[in-house]
Amino acid sequence: GSGSREFSGPPAAPRSPPAPGRIVLVESVPEGMAPSAGRAPNPSTFDAWLGLLGTAARSVDIASFYWTLTNEDTRTHEPSAAQGERILAELLRLPGRGVAVRVAVSAPSAKAPLDDLRALERSGAAVRAVDLPRLTGGVLHTKFWLVDGVHLYVGSANMDWRSLTQVKELGAAVYNCSCLAQDLGKIFEAYWALGVPDASIPAPWPDNYSTAFNMETPLELALNDTAAAVYFSSSPPPLCAAGRTRDLDALLSVIDGAEAFVDVAVMSYLPTTEFSRPERFWPAIDERLRKAVFERGVRLRLLAGCWRHSRASMFPFLKSLAAVADNHTHYDVEVRLFLVPTSAAQARIPFARVNHNKYMVTEKAAYVGTSNWSGDYFERTAGSALVVAQPGGGAGTFRERLQDVFERDWGSQYSVDIGDSSTSGNRIL
Ligand SMILES: *[C@@H]1O[C@H](CO)[C@@H](O)[C@H](O)[C@H]1NC(C)=O
Ligand SMILES: *[C@@H]1O[C@H](CO)[C@@H](O)[C@H](O)[C@H]1NC(C)=O
Ligand SMILES: *[C@@H]1O[C@H](CO)[C@@H](O)[C@H](O)[C@H]1NC(C)=O
Ligand SMILES: *[C@@H]1O[C@H](CO)[C@@H](O)[C@H](O)[C@H]1NC(C)=O
Ligand SMILES: *[C@@H]1O[C@H](CO)[C@@H](O)[C@H](O)[C@H]1NC(C)=O
Repeated sequence: GSGSREFSGPPAAPRSPPAPGRIVLVESVPEGMAPSAGRAPNPSTFDAWLGLLGTAARSVDIASFYWTLTNEDTRTHEPSAAQGERILAELLRLPGRGVAVRVAVSAPSAKAPLDDLRALERSGAAVRAVDLPRLTGGVLHTKFWLVDGVHLYVGSANMDWRSLTQVKELGAAVYNCSCLAQDLGKIFEAYWALGVPDASIPAPWPDNYSTAFNMETPLELALNDTAAAVYFSSSPPPLCAAGRTRDLDALLSVIDGAEAFVDVAVMSYLPTTEFSRPERFWPAIDERLRKAVFERGVRLRLLAGCWRHSRASMFPFLKSLAAVADNHTHYDVEVRLFLVPTSAAQARIPFARVNHNKYMVTEKAAYVGTSNWSGDYFERTAGSALVVAQPGGGAGTFRERLQDVFERDWGSQYSVDIGDSSTSGNRIL
């Protein structure tokens, strides 16, 4: 971060000026896909993670859903697991060179592989399982990394080898930005505090978990030499200390702020709950998108992920949203499905070959999240998002990079208009 505080030390002790914060859009593009034809690809999640591990000198904190970084974990024999296996190997080396490693993971289900977590513990890392099923009725679905209290990654990629080579992922890496890293660190500390046996959620959270950076008063700093206003949101609400914007509120405020367009890429989109019973209608996001289209004439484009595990009910709801577009009223809504191409061999890899992105871009802001867009994720499941506004614009801002990714995928051979797709159950015919 920049600002006068950095220079408020004793005048006799000259310091070098703070290194400017850098933000990089990072992606995993599944093997065999070429969405970037003719363009320079974005840095890969793998390279960003490897770089972060290489630079770590003091600490690495990882908030994670589950761990399957090796072929053993998935009982596969895929050469494309090599990147995940390398990441695990590098992580296991860190404690030996004096780096404190802490891993917060969602309480593993009975059949979840535990080999990676056990290996981490043997290496000297501290691992805590956060029992969100008991605490909030959800899971810890957040994916972020914090390195040395100054660098971070946040995005859709799980600690899963498939997230590096077989699933389409999008995230942001931020370097040399202690203000942001320390703020995200408060969310990590909340998971950490909940990761002890019989933990309960403090209400309210102690003062040191609270934040001054939120949707009303974002952190103002320079990212890549461009003025930016940034904050992290968090879910579910009981995990938000004072001052922390709830993830749903962040998402809705980005939609509400748009006057020209809202582009959304999300793996699953449902105006319902998915996992809690009884299932409920949950129109919070759907309603706000329709309002933006109807009241402000905003152009909405939504690109949903589609795979064989997609909920059958996602498709009629998406068609209903697309049906708002009309040649006479000029409501501007388009909905497309993104299909990751899959060879016969790739089809045998369990839970792979899908667009797992969860982001939104408007003419004003970029929102990079970790949650599917359905009720459970905002009410019960732990997730977080990075919200970046760069109002001054300028070529090569993070927001523009994100918009480029959206345009690339939207116009690619892998996207199909929901009206041209015929779906039966969860199959695209
Ligand atoms: C952080 O800033 C320092 C000093 O400007 C620079 O040498 C280093 O490469 C930066 N680190 C990263 C990971 O970008
Ligand atoms: C707040 O203070 C407590 C007690 O010292 C500590 O355990 C916890 O990690 C702190 N939380 C944060 C966010 O720093
Ligand atoms: C997101 O939604 C899909 C489809 O409903 C589900 O399979 C997946 O577990 C959800 N969470 C993740 C990992 O994004
Ligand atoms: C709207 O207009 C376009 C172009 O004239 C046409 O192709 C399309 O079928 C029309 N859509 C509807 C719903 O009438
Ligand atoms: C920010 O700067 C870094 C390092 O110079 C560069 O790799 C990255 O692409 C830039 N980010 C954006 C969003 O332009």
